[in-house]
Amino acid sequence: MKYKSQKVAYWFFALCMLLLVLQIVYGFIMGFARIGMDGLHDFIPFNTARAVHTNLLVVWLLTGFMGAAYYIIPEEAQQELVNVKLAYLQLISLAVVGVVAVVGYHFNYWEGRKFLEIPRELDFLVVVNVLLFLGLILATLWKGKRKTTTTIVLTMGLLFAALLYLPGMIWFDSQVTDAFFRWWVVHLWVEGVWELIMGGILSFLLIKLTGVDREVIEKWLYVIVGLTFLSGILGTGHHYYYIGVNKIWLVVGGIFSALEPLAFLAMALFAINMYRKGEKSHPNKLAIFWTIGAAIVSFIGAGVLGFAHTLPQTNLYTHGTLVTAMHGHLAFWGAYAMIVLAIISYAIPNLTGRKRHESTQGKLAFWLSNIGMIGMTTAFGVAGVAQVYLERKMKMEFMDVQNEISIHFVVLILCATLFATGIVLYIYEFIKYGKPTDEALEAKLS
Ligand code: HEM
Ligand code: HEM
Ligand SMILES: [Fe+2]
Repeated sequence: MKYKSQKVAYWFFALCMLLLVLQIVYGFIMGFARIGMDGLHDFIPFNTARAVHTNLLVVWLLTGFMGAAYYIIPEEAQQELVNVKLAYLQLISLAVVGVVAVVGYHFNYWEGRKFLEIPRELDFLVVVNVLLFLGLILATLWKGKRKTTTTIVLTMGLLFAALLYLPGMIWFDSQVTDAFFRWWVVHLWVEGVWELIMGGILSFLLIKLTGVDREVIEKWLYVIVGLTFLSGILGTGHHYYYIGVNKIWLVVGGIFSALEPLAFLAMALFAINMYRKGEKSHPNKLAIFWTIGAAIVSFIGAGVLGFAHTLPQTNLYTHGTLVTAMHGHLAFWGAYAMIVLAIISYAIPNLTGRKRHESTQGKLAFWLSNIGMIGMTTAFGVAGVAQVYLERKMKMEFMDVQNEISIHFVVLILCATLFATGIVLYIYEFIKYGKPTDEALEAKLS
């Protein structure tokens, strides 16, 4: 069963693609700056490019999550969205806040708190926007005929993500207190509630793509939610090791964050097992690639590479170096970027009524972007380990070290070019599908 209001999702996905392109542009600006080609320095210095790069990342992922919710909730709840016009209004206001924030950064209108650079006045607009989104989703769910575990986990993830944004809006004079609460947003998002969003989308996709019974799939979802909360909440301690809080966090953070990979391992096993178990071989192979890919790559990027620097003994050396960037790229890519690209790949053929499931461009998009991203991760990793050794073991000056390791950024740019080619192909496919039509959705109604 399909619902006409699911069309809204398409426009969220389109905004998503646009912001992804912009994010990549700023990635290249930084990559080139790192090898001395910093021609844009006067207008876009490294710190501005970095803030724009990471903030665009968060915004396009959230846009993708919202699109996913607008697609999934009506279908699962068997209920049209309660108000489609308001959903479009929410989309437009989201785009406006995004543009204002990005333009503002170029005029030094920002706060220097990594990932939360957006000025607190704009935060209030974000809150209004998110309240509108949640209102629409919750009302639809409430009115709907069915409340499935999948939608409840997805909605809880979105709701908690909104609530956790609030501690990041409070002003503290003490830098330690400020850092303490910044992690409630940054850590508890990616290693907590966003995992619920990912789990919800993953579960929806596996139900659709494998044909395995909902009961079986949703049982796994409970396990994943359980493991996430068990490890992720106290795992926040891995950011508190040396920031000036009680030493108990060394033990608590070390133990619980070391357990965090279990939730990602469970997701990978979940996806692989359901795929094997599935009898229905769904024609949308590309959506299957992205779905299983997300579960596996997130385990490597978040689970394995996260574990690599999570113990206090290692983090003492690696903190804030390019080792962090290595992990940050593959974790964000595998867990959140790939799951968004998976739901888009699944939804677009249904929304537009066209089928390009086996297209060569689509497959190339998958492989080039993934191979490119793994290459980038390796380049960051090698640069990071060299940085840790030279700077923190050999006690070389920070800037001298950056000079020594600049060669790795040549490799980074080459791999990023592969990656970007994959993304261009993905977007080419997206555009080639054309716009969503009522006929496509009505056809499925019968
Ligand atoms: C999809 C899930 C994850 C994403 C998207 C992610 C992303 C990131 C990002 C962007 C940072 C840098 C944050 C900042 O400095 O403001 C970071 C830091 C960190 N992450 Fe993750 N992460 C994930 C999961 C994990 C897991 C499961 C672990 C542990 C097993 C982990 C361990 C760490 C550690 C220890 C740091 C601090 C690095 C430092 O001290 O510089 N992460 N993560
Ligand atoms: C053409 C592609 C890209 C290039 C060239 C690129 C390059 C960079 C560079 C140079 C940095 C700054 C590292 C530093 O502090 O020195 C950075 C940061 C970051 N990028 Fe990218 N990036 C690209 C795409 C992406 C994508 C697709 C994602 C997410 C899926 C991503 C996520 C991040 C994150 C989370 C950080 C902050 C890491 C940290 O906190 O240490 N980037 N990127
Ligand atoms: Fe964390």
